[in-house]
Amino acid sequence: MSNQLTGSLPSLSGLISLQVLLLHNNNFSSIPPDFFAGMTSLTTVYLDYNPFESWEIPESLKDAGLLKEFSANGANVAGKVPEFFNSVVFPSLEKLHLALNYLEGGLPQNFSGSTIRSLWLNGQKSNSRLNGTVSILQNMTLLEEIWLHGNYFTGPLPDLSGLKSLKVLGLRDNSFTGVVPPSLQNSSELRVVNFTNNKFQGPTPKFADAVSVDMIPGTNRFCLDAPGVVCDARVNDLLSVAKNFGYPVSLADTWKGNDPCTSTDAWKGITCAGGDILVFNLKKAGLTGTISSDFSLFSKLQKLILSDNMLTGTIPDELTSLSSLNLLDVSNNRLYGQIPKFRSNVEVQYGGNPDIGKNSSSYAPPGTPGSTPSSPAGPGGGSDDSGNKNSATGKIMGSVIGVVCGLCVVGLGVFFYSRKRNRSSKVQSPNTMIIHPRHSGDQDAVKITVAGSSADSGVESFTDSVGPSDIHVVRTEKMVISIQVLRDVTNNFSEENILGRGGFGTVYKGELHDGTKIAVKRMESGVVSEKGLAEFMSEIAVLTKVRHRHLVALLGYCLDGNERLLVYEYMPQGTLSSHLFSGKEEGVKPLDWTRRLTIGLDVARAVEYLHGLAHQSFIHRDLKPSNILLGDDMRAKVADFGLVRLAPEGKASIETRLAGTFGYLAPEYAVTGRVTTKVDVYSFGVILMEMITGRKALDETQPEESFHLVTWFRRMHINKDTFIKAIDPTINLDEETLGSISTVADLAGHCTAREPYQRPDMGHVVNVLSSLVEFWKPAEPDSDDMYGIDFETPLPEVLLKWQAFDGSSSSFPPSGDNTQTSIPTRPSGFADSFTSADGR
Ligand SMILES: *[C@@H]1O[C@H](CO)[C@@H](O)[C@H](O)[C@H]1NC(C)=O
Ligand SMILES: *[C@@H]1O[C@H](CO)[C@@H](O)[C@H](O)[C@H]1NC(C)=O
Ligand SMILES: *[C@@H]1O[C@H](CO)[C@@H](O)[C@H](O)[C@H]1NC(C)=O
Ligand SMILES: *[C@@H]1O[C@H](CO)[C@@H](O)[C@H](O)[C@H]1NC(C)=O
Ligand SMILES: *[C@@H]1O[C@H](CO)[C@@H](O)[C@H](O)[C@H]1NC(C)=O
Ligand SMILES: *[C@@H]1O[C@H](CO)[C@@H](O)[C@H](O)[C@H]1NC(C)=O
Ligand SMILES: *[C@@H]1O[C@H](CO)[C@@H](O)[C@H](O)[C@H]1NC(C)=O
Ligand SMILES: *[C@@H]1O[C@H](CO)[C@@H](O)[C@H](O)[C@H]1NC(C)=O
Ligand SMILES: *[C@@H]1O[C@H](CO)[C@@H](O)[C@H](O)[C@H]1NC(C)=O
Repeated sequence: MSNQLTGSLPSLSGLISLQVLLLHNNNFSSIPPDFFAGMTSLTTVYLDYNPFESWEIPESLKDAGLLKEFSANGANVAGKVPEFFNSVVFPSLEKLHLALNYLEGGLPQNFSGSTIRSLWLNGQKSNSRLNGTVSILQNMTLLEEIWLHGNYFTGPLPDLSGLKSLKVLGLRDNSFTGVVPPSLQNSSELRVVNFTNNKFQGPTPKFADAVSVDMIPGTNRFCLDAPGVVCDARVNDLLSVAKNFGYPVSLADTWKGNDPCTSTDAWKGITCAGGDILVFNLKKAGLTGTISSDFSLFSKLQKLILSDNMLTGTIPDELTSLSSLNLLDVSNNRLYGQIPKFRSNVEVQYGGNPDIGKNSSSYAPPGTPGSTPSSPAGPGGGSDDSGNKNSATGKIMGSVIGVVCGLCVVGLGVFFYSRKRNRSSKVQSPNTMIIHPRHSGDQDAVKITVAGSSADSGVESFTDSVGPSDIHVVRTEKMVISIQVLRDVTNNFSEENILGRGGFGTVYKGELHDGTKIAVKRMESGVVSEKGLAEFMSEIAVLTKVRHRHLVALLGYCLDGNERLLVYEYMPQGTLSSHLFSGKEEGVKPLDWTRRLTIGLDVARAVEYLHGLAHQSFIHRDLKPSNILLGDDMRAKVADFGLVRLAPEGKASIETRLAGTFGYLAPEYAVTGRVTTKVDVYSFGVILMEMITGRKALDETQPEESFHLVTWFRRMHINKDTFIKAIDPTINLDEETLGSISTVADLAGHCTAREPYQRPDMGHVVNVLSSLVEFWKPAEPDSDDMYGIDFETPLPEVLLKWQAFDGSSSSFPPSGDNTQTSIPTRPSGFADSFTSADGR
């Protein structure tokens, strides 16, 4: 930067490790369209003040998912403000500076939920500059600095009280109208406000002394120049009416001062007598919005003429209270609804409103998806990565390298936990993932996991994942944990801490100084390069987005050199698989039927949650007992999200290459590779059969004809006698139990129906199982115990305590309860592919 370098910039496409790019204040003449392609590690870009030929910010920038700062002031950028600068594509973006360019159009609605702190779009030099309203600022709550001055923005300023850190608000030289939201005056961090040369109306705002205010008197449409002085009541009423029209500039131009009935400077459309407003004539005034019921506040009103506009909504009943009214003309608008009953001497003209008299409008209200050109849903999850594996791998590698250098060095990240529905994180799902065959430790399953393709088309934020109170939404600004902390809590990854081992890594038990247990999944270094890497990125992306009582919680992760680690909550009772199938050998008490039922319900609820998230479905694709983990209360959580796919909105099925485990694969998936949520329903049905029979999906110890559980189960289920023989002999069979088992057997059959459309959805499954569980015994009070993870204590505090141990002795004071610290004999079993330390 700050040289006189000339000529065209070369393409830097493919510099996957490059993080910081500072080229500002030079004399570069052009920038190639593929400039950013594949630069997956970029965090910082400064291109300001170069005499580039006119250019638009290329889509290839989206490869830089870790971007924090993008600055290109005075760089001849043309086109619209790109929608892709949103929190889904760039979950870490803090600075977007595009001042003094040739941008046009409006602020993208896509910026809702943005992480941007500093937004500069001031001084566009195109003919139309930036225009439209700025209502979306309300939804960009992290903003600290807003520079929009020198554009053609219109409409009112939204309530910005949600922007708790707002410091600078530069709006001068635009066409903002309406009343400045009173809450702005209470904004505690606010330091600079520039309002000069707009059309703001109502009282002049009065800011605290700490605020430096640029608001030259007479350059707005305030009623009075003195800050904080209230307006005439008629002015307030008129502004209230104008508010429903969206404070149009056409009214703001003349509706100024504190006397609407002034003889010298007439207010548009208003006729007064003796200080009272008698007539509104706003025919053909280009009005949009609705008719305010506050017209009824003008008690002397005789004529209200609003014809030939684009008004929507209904005629307010309150207007009938106007005792002097003799004409209401609302003809040629888009009104609907019944006409209120006016006195007989009121002439009501309403022709040219196609929906008048109907109970609903056929016009889409402005701002709804139907009325704005919405871009079509993304290209979907097609397997478009074929033949492009290298670059896909490059992307992932690049991101990982970026994260390593960018974040892990930072050391301890900060967790934000909250119990309520709260703003969740927005983590970009890996766009492309290559999953390689991994060695399965399971003897019972032949695992085929081949290159899976991207199913991620425009991931949206989950800020509104609606759900019951048992969903924990986590904010993952920084879930990065330093390798040193993880070394310490696992006794330097000692043999004694190993919970399980598998094809792509080892799971260690870790224990914090306060006795809280965690499980640390450490990828095998060396083997890591590709194998398991996709799973790694996928799990982070998914687990940070979804939180549910019955999904294993990801607490953090670490990338450091070759090291890749995931930190989970610790599930002391290991896998459902070990309880169902190896009970005898390991001396584990067999599960009684009510336990199995409760576990089934827990799993069903988790899968229902995954399938039914607000904006997309997640499909697990590898449900099986070795992915179901149990806590000390024997409640279950679903684990192993390495294979989860997002079902794109509006697409019923996605094609992926096969992944999953034989025995649990739905037939249509095995044959066509098409994935729908019904694939999980099928696997769940198989799990129910396993819980009923105590047999594995594929049981090599059985003769050929009963090797495949689903086939054998169907045969046995045909009549009662054979069915009773199929039930796990360790279950105590009484009449009630048998009834319950039969219902579940029917459900299992239904779930494993040959055709996906014949299978129920998980909501139905939950209903069936919960009615059985309730019938059986009073529902257990749902405990909030997350197996030692205290969701009440903010994780930053917990981590500070860890940090205190960082670098100190790696041996921990024994925590009071010695039996708890002994090494369990069963694997905690995070991935199916881990075998237990004792060699099972
Ligand atoms: C910038 O580059 C142009 C040609 O691209 C040249 O004419 C001009 O002199 C350069 N300016 C400086 C300060 O180097
Ligand atoms: C947001 O931007 C993405 C592109 O990044 C686009 O696919 C999507 O349609 C946009 N959504 C809205 C609501 O504009
Ligand atoms: C904004 O300007 C564009 C021209 O760039 C124009 O087509 C559009 O109608 C304007 N929008 C508004 C809301 O004024
Ligand atoms: C902005 O937030 C408000 C509520 O705070 C919400 O009603 C609105 O839909 C959001 N707008 C967008 C574009 O997301
Ligand atoms: C602003 O703060 C004052 C004093 O704390 C309070 O009385 C007033 O209601 C607040 N106004 C708004 C709009 O929040
Ligand atoms: C805003 O006003 C302050 C105080 O008058 C001034 O120092 C600053 O340069 C202005 N900033 C913008 C962005 O207009
Ligand atoms: C419209 O709503 C009113 C009252 O809500 C009802 O009496 C009337 O039948 C409805 N008309 C139609 C066409 O649905
Ligand atoms: C998020 O949770 C915190 C802590 O519970 C709370 O203080 C805050 O108001 C919540 N924010 C939202 C937007 O709900
Ligand atoms: C931890 O283990 C590594 C080798 O795995 C060794 O080099 C290092 O010295 C050990 N550190 C401590 C504190 O024991």
